[in-house]
Amino acid sequence: MPDKTYYITTPIYYANAPLHIGHAYSTVAADVAKRWQALRGREVFMLTGMDEHGEKIYRSSAASGVKPQDWVDRYADEAKKLWAFMNVSCDGFVRTTDSAHKETVREVFRRLRAKGDIYDSEYEGPYCVSCETFFSAQQVKDAGECCPDCGKKITEIKKESALFFRLSSYGGKLLDFYRANPDFLEPPGMANKTIDSVTRGLNDLCVTRERVSWGIPVPGDASKTIYVWFDALLNYLSAAGFPHDMGLFHKLWPADCHIVGKEIYYFHSVIWPAMLMALELPLPEKVYGHGWWTLKDDKISKSTGNIVTPYEVCEKFHPDILRFFFLREMPFGTDGAFSMERIGERYTADLANPLGNLFKRTEVMLEKYFGGKIPESGSFDEAILQKQKETLESFSRHMDALRFHGALNALWELIDAANRFIEEQKPWVLYKEKSPKLNDVLLTLSGCLEFVTGLLSPFMPVKCAEMAAHIDWKIQMPEAGSARKGRPIPGGAILFPAVEK
Ligand code: MSP
Repeated sequence: MPDKTYYITTPIYYANAPLHIGHAYSTVAADVAKRWQALRGREVFMLTGMDEHGEKIYRSSAASGVKPQDWVDRYADEAKKLWAFMNVSCDGFVRTTDSAHKETVREVFRRLRAKGDIYDSEYEGPYCVSCETFFSAQQVKDAGECCPDCGKKITEIKKESALFFRLSSYGGKLLDFYRANPDFLEPPGMANKTIDSVTRGLNDLCVTRERVSWGIPVPGDASKTIYVWFDALLNYLSAAGFPHDMGLFHKLWPADCHIVGKEIYYFHSVIWPAMLMALELPLPEKVYGHGWWTLKDDKISKSTGNIVTPYEVCEKFHPDILRFFFLREMPFGTDGAFSMERIGERYTADLANPLGNLFKRTEVMLEKYFGGKIPESGSFDEAILQKQKETLESFSRHMDALRFHGALNALWELIDAANRFIEEQKPWVLYKEKSPKLNDVLLTLSGCLEFVTGLLSPFMPVKCAEMAAHIDWKIQMPEAGSARKGRPIPGGAILFPAVEK
C-alpha cells in the first residue's frame, strides 16, 4: 500500500485530571514514529484526543460542582496546550463529545444491532468506575474484594436491562487472525497474555449503562447510554472519517499502529479487533503496548497520587530533552523508573558530552582551519561512510518497528565513532603538517553533523532545528556520505550546555 497515509494513534485520555508524564510518553512516542515516517517522505496522520464520557468523569465534575461539558472542555484545552508545549504535532484531536464522533458511535451501534451482534439482555455485577470496567464476581473475589486492575473499591451494578456485544463468537476468528498476522500484537510478552486470555474463552460484553446519563444515548432507547469503552474505541474510526467521510477513511484506514499503555492492551487487542470484525472492516496493522513510568516502584498515576507533570520537568530541561529521555532511557514495552537525576545523567552522558562536543569541536576546527566553511575539496572517509550506511540501515529498521531504543543505540554508536575519529586523526597535527588529509577529516565530520541532525529530528524537533541552523542545513532525510563542499558553517550558541547536578 505505497500511497496509504501512515496513520498512528495514542489512547484518548480521560478528561478528569491534569495529564502527566505517563500520558506524555504515549503521545511523544506516536509523534516520534509519525515524524520518522514523514522524514522518509510518507503522508502521515497522528491522532490523539480525549475520552470525555462515563461515570468517572460525571462523578468528578459533579463533585466539583461543574457541568460535565464545561469540565471536559477545560481538560481538552489543557491537553492541547500540553501537546503544543511538548512539540507534538498532531493532525487530529478527537473528543468523544464531538458531534461527528457521537454520530459514528450511534451508526456503529445501529449496524451491529441490525446484524445481531448487539442483542438485548440484562446485567448485574461488579463494576470499577475508575477503570470503567465490568468484572465477574469471581475476578473480584480473587482480587480480595476490590478491582483486579487498580485495587480500588468496586461498585455493584443492580440488575438492569442492558445490551450486549457478541464478543464470545469472535474468539476463534481472533486467534486465527493473530496466527496469520504475527506482527499485529507487540511486544511479544503482551501478545502472549492476549492469546492466553482469548484461548481461555471470551464472554459477551455489556455495552450499555442504565443509570449513567453522561454518555451517548442508545439509538431508540434514551434510558440507556453506550458503555464508555465501546464509545471511546470508536474514536479511531470517527476521526478517520468513518462513515461520514469515506474518502478520508480510505486514505487512513487501516491504522498502522495503535500505541497504548499495557493496562488497556486487552481492550485494544481483543475487544477492538472483534468490533472491527463485526463491522467487517480491516484490522489495524499493529497494537503496541508499552510499559509504565514508575516512581519508587509505583506506577505514576493520579490514583497513586504521585504524578509528575511535563511542566515540572521542563522547569529544568527543554521539552525536547524529556522527549529524548522517554525513548532513550528504556526499551519501548518495558517499565522504567523515572527521576530528575536520571534525566540529568542521560543529558550529560548522551547530549552535552558526545553530541554537543562533536558539534563544538567540528565547528571550532572549521572556523580555525577553513574560515568557517566546509572544505572545498577532499573525500569522505571510507570507514565512516561505511558506518553511516550501517547506521542508516539499522536505525530505519528499528524505527519502522517502533524500537526507538535500538534506533538511538545505533545512532549513538555513530556519534561515538565520529568522536573517536577526531582523536585518531588528530586534525590539529594534520593542520601543522599542512596535510591534505585535513580536508577529508573535516568534510567527513561536517557530513556526520547533518547525518545525526536529520535522524535525531523526530525525537528532538526543536533542538534539531537549532542544530541544523548551526550547519546551515534544512532538515531532511540524510544520506550516507553527503558532504556539501564549500558551504558556510555559521555555528552558534552552545547546543547542550552543562547542567549542575
Ligand atoms: N480513556 C482510556 C483510553 C481509551 S483509548 C480508546 C484511558 N485513559 S487514561 O487517561 O487513563 O490514559 C491511559 C494511558 O496513559 C495509558 O494507556 C498510557 O498510554 C498512558 N499512561 C498513563 N500512566 C502511565 C504511566 N505511568 N507510564 C506510562 N504510560 C502511562 O485509559
